[in-house]
Amino acid sequence: MNTKIAASVLSADFSHLADELRRLQSTDIIHLDLMDGHFVPNLSFGYPLVSCIRSLTEKPLDAHLMVTNPESYVEPLAKIGIQWLSFHQETVYHSHRLVQEIKAHKIKAGIALNPATAIATLDAILPELDFVLVMSVNPGYSAQSFIPSAIDKIRSLARIRESQKLNFQIEVDGGVNGGNCAAIRAAGADILVSASHIFGSQDYDLAINTLKGI
Ligand code: DX5
Ligand code: ZN
Repeated sequence: MNTKIAASVLSADFSHLADELRRLQSTDIIHLDLMDGHFVPNLSFGYPLVSCIRSLTEKPLDAHLMVTNPESYVEPLAKIGIQWLSFHQETVYHSHRLVQEIKAHKIKAGIALNPATAIATLDAILPELDFVLVMSVNPGYSAQSFIPSAIDKIRSLARIRESQKLNFQIEVDGGVNGGNCAAIRAAGADILVSASHIFGSQDYDLAINTLKGI
């Protein structure tokens, strides 16, 4: 399967958002980092901006919730019209219930794992998931350095997927760049998230193709 790229608008120039989105022709997905200042020490944006982005692009929208009460975000985001939604394993008691609720809205459901959270915490729910979001930085900011132990985590997840004949996709988020993308793809990642590598370059499509390895 070809690697997909999810461009994270966190590093986009919000004062020229329409232009920024137009320059992302080669991206497969638009990744939206919602932060609440509680689960992570940063605030990003909320529903008004997500709605605005929805009206500016037809690409699938992938909301990554870095918030303490992800349950309350599902309905409003479903109304706006997103296609992918992940919440952090560290933020919920009832992950199974929340995954079912997301899927009931016909949205792909994923769970994100902080760098220090073990894959084993997902053992019982992996068969229900459309994707796992492997954090390769501590969430909260773009332009941080890739944490190398994420490679082992991706490899382990890919092995589990194969041995248990599961279908979840593996999305990797944080510090992805031209220097490490080949190793991340080789470890078994299906979707690479990127903010600073794309928005810090002159030619976004070229930066995206570099991440895809084409
Ligand atoms: C980090 C966010 C990431 C971030 C990635 O908390 O979840 O999606 O935007 O930024 P880069 O690609 O610059 O590490
Ligand atoms: Zn993210």
